[in-house]
Amino acid sequence: MSLTKHAKLNAWIEEIQAMVKPENVVLCDGSQAQYDNLIKEMVESGLATKLNQEKLPGCYLFRSDASDVARVEDRTYISSEKQEDAGPTNNWKAPAELKAEMKALYDGCMKGRTMYVIPFSMGPVGSDIAKIGVEITDSAYVVINMMIMTRVGSKVLDVLGTDGEFIPCLHSVGSPLQPGESDNGKWPCAPIEKKYISHFPEERTIWSYGSGYGGNALLGKKCLALRIASAVAHEEGWLAEHMLILKITSPEGVVKYVCGAFPSACGKTNLAMLIPTIPGWKVETIGDDIAWMKPGKDGRLYAINPEAGFFGVAPGTNFHSNKNAMLSAQKDTIYTNVALEADGTVWWEGMDEDPKSELIDWKGNKWNLPANGKSEKGKEAAHPNARFTAPARNCPAIAPEWEDPKGVPVDAFLFGGRRPSTIPLVHQAMSWEHGVFMGSIVGSEVTAAVISDQVGQVRRDPFAMLPFCGYHMGDYFAHWIKMGKANPDKMPKIFFVNWFRKTKEGKWLWPGYGDNSRVLKWVCERCDGKGDAVETPIGFMPTATAIDRPEGVTVEDMNELLSVDKAGWLAELADVEKNHYPKFGDKLPQELRDQIKIITERLSK
Ligand code: OXD
Ligand code: MN
Repeated sequence: MSLTKHAKLNAWIEEIQAMVKPENVVLCDGSQAQYDNLIKEMVESGLATKLNQEKLPGCYLFRSDASDVARVEDRTYISSEKQEDAGPTNNWKAPAELKAEMKALYDGCMKGRTMYVIPFSMGPVGSDIAKIGVEITDSAYVVINMMIMTRVGSKVLDVLGTDGEFIPCLHSVGSPLQPGESDNGKWPCAPIEKKYISHFPEERTIWSYGSGYGGNALLGKKCLALRIASAVAHEEGWLAEHMLILKITSPEGVVKYVCGAFPSACGKTNLAMLIPTIPGWKVETIGDDIAWMKPGKDGRLYAINPEAGFFGVAPGTNFHSNKNAMLSAQKDTIYTNVALEADGTVWWEGMDEDPKSELIDWKGNKWNLPANGKSEKGKEAAHPNARFTAPARNCPAIAPEWEDPKGVPVDAFLFGGRRPSTIPLVHQAMSWEHGVFMGSIVGSEVTAAVISDQVGQVRRDPFAMLPFCGYHMGDYFAHWIKMGKANPDKMPKIFFVNWFRKTKEGKWLWPGYGDNSRVLKWVCERCDGKGDAVETPIGFMPTATAIDRPEGVTVEDMNELLSVDKAGWLAELADVEKNHYPKFGDKLPQELRDQIKIITERLSK
């Protein structure tokens, strides 16, 4: 019997079933009963650990295979018909070749397993900006995570009707079971050389094989909402961005919506959930990772958060860095690769308190904090990329309109990275093109903790989209320029921020976290044509007194944070021109080349 009322969907399900040969097929209806039942089965099989239900109700812990802990960029493909459409920053294989390779792996890959069919909506169900996907997977862990991260089930099929459009997403852990065999508490996955995260943008299809890790397996997130959606947005004239969305309200009740793109490890989730230190100001969260934006009838950009949950990095999250994230993950949350306390609660590095007991680490072994109170690198109790999957509705700071199907009008874009020198605390673009230039040069300085031979160099991650853009990045820059040209007066104002400035002696100049609200306040004022600013060669910057100074930041610190480092900027521009922009070849828009010239001339005057 057909699973749904949608003939094309039924045909696809049958085609996949014939290829992967599962034991049985289950349609996910999105019900709590189905969720509870899957968890129960996984606790019984030893894959999930039930946490202390008094302290963490509805929370469970999973441990991955030690090799399956993160996204696998080397195994991620943008398989457009023509290689030049994927561009120089994506791995590419011809679709026919890639499909043949993957079909050989998919053949019989779900033997002994259940094939789950998950209809999901990215964005509020029925929103004009939302898109529907259907993920087929053999991982129950994926099903329950998808149920938190997206809107799943019958209500989505109702919107799909008999002939609505959907994006087929196929996922398998790539670990078939022989008769009588079971996972026995082991997280199934395939070896690295058999992992594939493949995107076919023309067909709007995703094929993922061999990994159970969120970024590789929850196909609504990076694969659909960024890689496929960015290609669709390019075609259709909208934006699918790796951006947080926050709402900020002034003491007078004036509301602004701000989207921000930051490379990883820049505190994006913390900024999305910030608790302001300036009295009277309020920040609320709409989304912490992805924004889809379409021009409304009034010409402004309207943003939705296509997700319904947070897939946050646990290590480093604590009640000081992000109280709202901590509170979001106290119930109905899935923890992956964190450490387990004897009382059934969880622990990770950077939680701001020592473990209460001997722990079980993310690999399932006994673990004690070393005598110096610090975990040894590579021997942490929680994996550095350990995650919590928490429903967005749990967040105390979630904005009431976070599920508004028409989205929120965007007032400002922020770009930033970890830049100990050169980039000031905040500066504002003088034009749309200048703002796009800012986005295109985003990056973080490589620290000694990462790769020693690149220390001090900036690793660029334009628009924080380098691993997530589903087409040629040069075309992506051109798309941004075009979006602004269509409606120059209605576009959000663009700002470059840097919370990570240090003195020459290596001391942080800016406290960050809640004090970043002081910069947001200036951003809001600038959106209303207020906020004291000076015109400098690199853009508009706050006057010395335009930003409320946090405790512990001296006038001299502030001057340093808000000065234009002429030599540093000339070196920055030279680096962009010599090492960064050439990667994009002929597709680099002339407008961006022009910005290098314009800013260099202004600095040289
Ligand atoms: C994420 C990422 O997991 O950007 O959000 O890698
Ligand atoms: Mn992200």
